[in-house]
Amino acid sequence: MKIGIVLGTRPEIIKMSSIIDEIQHSENECILIHTGQHYDIEMSKQFFIDLNLPLPNYNIGIGSNTALQQISKIIVELEEILIKENIDIVLVQGDTNAVLAGALAANKLKIPVGHVEAGLRSFDKDMPEETNRILADNCSNLFFVPTDETAINLQNEGINHKMIHVTGNTIVDACQRNLDIAIEKSNVSSMIKYEKYITLTLHRAENVDNPERLKNIVNSLLNLKHNIVFPLHPHTRKSLENNNLYEKISSAKHIQITKPLGYLDFLYLLSHSQLILTDSGGVQEEAITLDIPCVTLRYNTERPETISAGGNVLAGTNEEEIRGNIEKILNDKEIYDSMVNAKNPYGDGTSSQKILNIIEKSFENNSVQIKESNEILDFKGYYIKEIAEDINVKEFENINKYHFIEQIFNNNVPELIEDETGLKGKIIIVKEFEKQI
Ligand code: UD1
Ligand code: UDP
Repeated sequence: MKIGIVLGTRPEIIKMSSIIDEIQHSENECILIHTGQHYDIEMSKQFFIDLNLPLPNYNIGIGSNTALQQISKIIVELEEILIKENIDIVLVQGDTNAVLAGALAANKLKIPVGHVEAGLRSFDKDMPEETNRILADNCSNLFFVPTDETAINLQNEGINHKMIHVTGNTIVDACQRNLDIAIEKSNVSSMIKYEKYITLTLHRAENVDNPERLKNIVNSLLNLKHNIVFPLHPHTRKSLENNNLYEKISSAKHIQITKPLGYLDFLYLLSHSQLILTDSGGVQEEAITLDIPCVTLRYNTERPETISAGGNVLAGTNEEEIRGNIEKILNDKEIYDSMVNAKNPYGDGTSSQKILNIIEKSFENNSVQIKESNEILDFKGYYIKEIAEDINVKEFENINKYHFIEQIFNNNVPELIEDETGLKGKIIIVKEFEKQI
């Protein structure tokens, strides 16, 4: 099988790395397509070196531009590449412009799409990523979701449960595969000025492109009585400079700004932090994986599991809220320890293996390829039903042909739908079709 991987930014390289590794150790062929959205060495090439990855077969080289310019150029270029390479399935990861463009291009060419980290929702359309992930999911055929909660988001949107696979998050694979290497190889500790420090990352458009929010965040940092190490994303550097904040923050004695770090250096830095302060998606996941308390500089998160597990809090961008949350965690051992001990909801580091197995099985049993319709199924409508008998999902759907369970409520709470999920005493929502003769 020829698996095309479309990626464009730092987190996609990291979260796809273990999947690329698995493909390389299998019978399948991997065609790597970089959109070129991230192009600085420390935002792109360094990750190929650190993670021991093959260089991309193609680099579309879109560079920095408006989202529409980026997305349209990727789609046009992908059309040619995907046809020429005769790709069997396209994999995209996460919610960047590469994900939307990759999923849409493949879908239009009738190439199946596997979305890694599907189903995340912040329910905040102010974020460019929210639209990307919703639209990419609409173009996808296989959904690799990190947790049960994310699977339920997709069930709520009417996605067939048979195509949703809870695999954990490949960030755990990346952390586990690289932490020991980072501890052995990274010499970042020699350049860190402080013994104890908070690691800070900041780059989300809704924070750094909003002068008011950016100023509030910077003020909260300037008035903090803890040391901070701040690997600076190029997007943020530009915004700080444009808002005359760069001088202020870079001259503060308790704040050390560095260039963006490679993965091994960054993993080392994170794993030795007292606390993590971030608006990044991937870093929220790494915090709970590495057992470091996390304060998130956002008003919502598409990673709510980190909050309900107790490892992450939302502080928004208000100066007092940010400082108050940090002080509370660092000054109260009980709170600190409970955050450290929060259970990681993202699996055991075998996500990439699971994802490749599911892709191979889906091709073997012909369930993912986009086929010509050979029968007409007439949509009858939805119905809701309380189930009294002792029956599971698979049995119900076998008995009731062309009735597909879309949601299960157990004591009024939606539940993950799997073939073996028992239905007795639960309420289900069903989508009904009828075959036309
Ligand atoms: C992008 C993703 C975001 C992801 C982040 C990961 C979208 C909409 N955004 O945001 O979801 O969390 O990557 O880091 O896809 N720049 C450089 N060098 C680079 C890349 C960017 O200087 O190698 C600067 C440019 O001035 C550019 C700005 O950063 O205009 C923003 O880059 P862009 O790729 O648009 O968005 P990110 O903030 O990186
Ligand atoms: N990261 C890194 N070096 C840095 C900052 C982040 O290697 O200087 C890694 C981090 O470990 C995580 C990923 O980049 O795996 C997160 O990417 P980012 O925060 O840019 O994007 P997001 O996850 O928010 O989309």
